[in-house]
Amino acid sequence: MVFRLACGTLVFLGTAHAYVWPSPQLDALEAVRFDQLGFNTLIATLATFVQPCNLFLFDPTISPNSGRSDAADWIRTAYHDAATHNSTDGTGGMDGSIRLPEEQARAENAGNGFANTMGIVLAVVDRYVSNADAIALGALIAIETCGGPEIAFRGGRVDAAVPNAPGVPAPEQDLDSHIASFARQGFTQTEMIGLVACGHTFGGVQHSFFPNIVNVLNDPTSTDNVAHFDSTPVTFDNNVAAEYISGTTTNPLVVGFNDTTNSDKRIFGSDGNATILSFANSPDLFASTCADLFARMLDTVPSGVELTEVIKPLPVKPSSVNLIMDGDTLQLFGLVRLWNTTEDPTRTVRVIWHDHNGGTGNSTLNFVSTSSSTGGKYTATWYGFNSTVFGLMPLLLDPVAGVKSLSFVVDGILEDQGGLGFAIQDAFMLSQTSCQGGLPVIGRVDVAVRNGVNPSRVYLEQINIDSVLRRSITEIDITPPSQLVAANSAYSLWSMNNLTDQSMSFTIGAEIDGIKYSTTDVLYMFDFAPCPT
Ligand code: HEM
Ligand SMILES: *[C@@H]1O[C@H](CO)[C@@H](O)[C@H](O)[C@H]1NC(C)=O
Ligand SMILES: *[C@@H]1O[C@H](CO)[C@@H](O)[C@H](O)[C@H]1NC(C)=O
Ligand SMILES: *[C@@H]1O[C@H](CO)[C@@H](O)[C@H](O)[C@H]1NC(C)=O
Ligand SMILES: *[C@@H]1O[C@H](CO)[C@@H](O)[C@H](O)[C@H]1NC(C)=O
Ligand SMILES: *[C@@H]1O[C@H](CO)[C@@H](O)[C@H](O)[C@H]1NC(C)=O
Ligand SMILES: *[C@@H]1O[C@H](CO)[C@@H](O)[C@H](O)[C@H]1NC(C)=O
Ligand SMILES: *[C@@H]1O[C@H](CO)[C@@H](O)[C@H](O)[C@H]1NC(C)=O
Repeated sequence: MVFRLACGTLVFLGTAHAYVWPSPQLDALEAVRFDQLGFNTLIATLATFVQPCNLFLFDPTISPNSGRSDAADWIRTAYHDAATHNSTDGTGGMDGSIRLPEEQARAENAGNGFANTMGIVLAVVDRYVSNADAIALGALIAIETCGGPEIAFRGGRVDAAVPNAPGVPAPEQDLDSHIASFARQGFTQTEMIGLVACGHTFGGVQHSFFPNIVNVLNDPTSTDNVAHFDSTPVTFDNNVAAEYISGTTTNPLVVGFNDTTNSDKRIFGSDGNATILSFANSPDLFASTCADLFARMLDTVPSGVELTEVIKPLPVKPSSVNLIMDGDTLQLFGLVRLWNTTEDPTRTVRVIWHDHNGGTGNSTLNFVSTSSSTGGKYTATWYGFNSTVFGLMPLLLDPVAGVKSLSFVVDGILEDQGGLGFAIQDAFMLSQTSCQGGLPVIGRVDVAVRNGVNPSRVYLEQINIDSVLRRSITEIDITPPSQLVAANSAYSLWSMNNLTDQSMSFTIGAEIDGIKYSTTDVLYMFDFAPCPT
């Protein structure tokens, strides 16, 4: 239901609305956001770096007593990426520019948290997840996993190729500079107090980078000499505010020996302690305020960047859906994830496939495994198409009938996205006749194209990484066959037989009626059968 209020704001009531599958970008972002630990989370590794929340992987000794944490690093990294935003001219913000060495070398970015997180960001980035999205997700997952509120996440940040203008606030600046700095970033004075408190519930200040703020501590539980902002530095809670109000704070930016750098003291006190007192009095108010401010911080993007809708978990989500033509058989591989469920041996899950002739077939799915997210708050169960105790077998379909869409039946309840079904494109797919090795042929990719579809182009897609680590897709066109080579009675082959790199990996793309489609799973040439000699 949508209500229009007098002020013109749209308010959406009722159950959370999720996007329609398939949407390659949203599917990929949703997976990094929600498939955090356990089954089918190979590319979504962010949560493994903040679990447990005191984990710190970059200490030379990997000491649990370094006093540092990856969780704090993620949050500071995201803030320093966002803080260059100029809301007047729309430049700067969450565009991943903090990964660039030139930004990291600036005095305003003193510290090693940025370099620490960047190596991990690279493992998550792909064609649909930018460096900037991965930085935002790292911070969000750290906050949510370590006791914080759930944060609305949008994707679609675009990676900058060059550094932004400087603009991260520094502790020695005065209060007016900080108010002006946050105003430039798009935050009021009250929001500044909130955002600083929300960030400084994690981590602290290191002696090695800020010797004028923190002395050598001689503390065996803080071997990196980190003076923490509150007594619970790896947990989201309102202690940063409560300890400030009660006068017990050890925050080095409040009670530091050099008053010039006591920026948190000036900021927290700038409205006569009103905002920070409200946080000290109410953990719930602090959490809800931080959820809102963190979301806005992460959504601080240069003008012209259009973020996606807030990404909600799909209740029923097909995953790794992959078609392969095997002679006269169309193989349909896949999994389905049931969000926020635990394993239940009495549950029955069926997949129904709808073909091009209006016919259907169905198969019972078997439980495969579970995954979890948000520090164990959510569990999801995964079921495999035609899974057996030996693994995942494809469903074997008739290529003539093909497959247009799927629906699922979970304990007798139809799950079909409100009647839309889960659309499957069977217009083109890898053919099992693809091969590698055997001179003179090094590799041949055969793509089976459904007769009558007539794509204007069929091509291999390879991920290209440029000198500043931005991802883009290189398309390698397959020359249309001069005469049709039948794969079977419903499909013909488009072949590329001059491939020389056996380590090549790719997806397949095609342009049909002006729209580009891509296969989902990355294909590796070394998986192909040997070419016949
Ligand atoms: C006037 C504004 C701010 C100033 C002057 C400031 C200053 C600092 C300084 C000097 C450090 C120590 C860094 C180190 O030793 O590596 C720090 C750490 C940190 N800051 Fe801020 N900060 C500000 C605002 C924020 C905001 C808005 C956030 C997030 C919303 C944030 C999040 C963090 C976090 C999580 C750490 C801990 C990093 C770690 O322990 O690895 N800061 N801040
Ligand atoms: C922000 O952008 C405006 C418009 O270009 C400019 O006048 C202003 O100086 C910028 N602010 C900062 C702090 O760079
Ligand atoms: C206090 O900090 C300011 C700014 O970093 C610095 O210029 C000054 O020397 C410091 N004073 C002491 C006593 O460390
Ligand atoms: C704000 O709180 C701090 C810490 O308790 C205290 O030192 C300061 O006097 C307070 N400021 C005001 C205006 O009440
Ligand atoms: C998750 O499932 C539990 C148990 O069925 C339910 O109480 C809870 O509301 C669900 N949470 C969400 C966010 O759907
Ligand atoms: C599943 O297929 C069987 C035949 O194989 C059919 O009898 C049954 O009605 C189908 N069930 C559904 C839900 O389509
Ligand atoms: C499941 O896989 C097995 C082994 O490949 C095959 O014999 C069987 O026909 C498949 N079931 C369906 C419904 O496709
Ligand atoms: C292979 O053939 C395709 C056309 O099918 C052509 O576009 C491509 O440049 C060729 N690649 C090599 C390495 O010769």
